[in-house]
Amino acid sequence: MCRMIVSEEKMKDEHRKMEADLRELRNRISDGGDVLGLLSELEERLKNHIYVEEEILFPSLTDEEENRIARGFEYEHAAILTLVDKIHRGISEGDMALALKKTESTLRLFSQHSRREEMTAYRSWTERTAGSGAKTERSFAGSLPKDWKCRFFRDRGA
Ligand SMILES: [Fe+2]
Ligand SMILES: [Fe+2]
Repeated sequence: MCRMIVSEEKMKDEHRKMEADLRELRNRISDGGDVLGLLSELEERLKNHIYVEEEILFPSLTDEEENRIARGFEYEHAAILTLVDKIHRGISEGDMALALKKTESTLRLFSQHSRREEMTAYRSWTERTAGSGAKTERSFAGSLPKDWKCRFFRDRGA
């Protein structure tokens, strides 16, 4: 059991770090560099990030409009994770053209997704936590459960 610190700044830093990783992955796939270690690190980081959003941030956004927005982000999480699976498949089958194409799609979707989260859900979360007098940085006990699935896949029984 570890403690996680959640703050808007930290979540934004994670966005930038994962975007940088995706760019690095794209370069290595193009240059024929070693990609498997980087990809599995990125995947782990991405799942943790999505876990915090879906289990901590989004549930605190309770009005109807915020809820609608959060459901849209959850749908995109499933799309991002599906793309990352396809990068894996491309690499394991030696189809580097496929891996490259899926990495570019992931980078594009992830960047747009992250910018929109920062402008909407993250802002609302900070306003809410600050407005309630709580510190905007929260720590909570827990770590990503091994068999955790993002909400969209869970609701689908996937
Ligand atoms: Fe997200
Ligand atoms: Fe995010």
